[in-house]
Amino acid sequence: MKKIFLWLLLLLPLFAHSQAFQDRMRGPTPLNETTPPPPIVNPDNSDVRRMRNYAMQPPIVPHKIEGYQIDKNANRCMMCHARTRTQESQAPMISVTHFMDRQGNFLAELSPRRYFCLQCHVPQADLKPLVDNEFKDVDTMLNQTPPQGAPAKKK
Ligand code: HEC
Ligand code: HEC
Repeated sequence: MKKIFLWLLLLLPLFAHSQAFQDRMRGPTPLNETTPPPPIVNPDNSDVRRMRNYAMQPPIVPHKIEGYQIDKNANRCMMCHARTRTQESQAPMISVTHFMDRQGNFLAELSPRRYFCLQCHVPQADLKPLVDNEFKDVDTMLNQTPPQGAPAKKK
């Protein structure tokens, strides 16, 4: 009897897990079935540059990029964001870090490791996030009243 009880106890987390686990993207669809793809949404094309969540964040893209070619022959993004193009395009220039190789040397042109812009910069769409996010930026953290028992702030 004791043994059976022990077994049940061991198996309990398994059952609990299979009950609770549900992928936010797939919903209740079993793993061996395909979900219908969600409709393609309209990305933000407001042209309003958004606040960054922290100083080193790659800014998000506030305009449409549909059909922009980025391959070994051409980089459409650089047609507006390159140093020599910004006067005409009024786009912000790629920053100095985009000219640096991984040893920190400054190159004359865009560093190869920054060539594929969409690795880091992404367009946005008005969608319900798949996972909750409780991120607070540093200014919010600094202005927060410290929890009880925390060391006092230096004056
Ligand atoms: C036709 C010119 C043009 C092209 C091509 C273009 N951009 Fe832009 N981009 C702009 C302009 C102008 C802005 C300033 C905000 C606005 O007007 O949308 C901008 C803003 C941005 C910003 C926001 C910068 C910030 O500080 O918030 C990012 C990131 C960006 N673009 C990335 C890209 C990427 C990645 C591509 C290629 C997939 C691209 N852009 C192609 C003109 C362009
Ligand atoms: C490996 C990641 C990465 C790639 C690839 C990359 N960027 Fe960035 N980008 C960043 C980060 C991080 C920042 C913000 C900090 C900084 O300036 O380095 C930034 C900043 C920018 C800014 C804002 C500059 C400013 O001074 O406000 C523009 C515009 C931009 N990137 C455009 C591009 C374009 C166009 C490409 C492709 C040719 C590109 N980036 C490729 C990471 C990347």
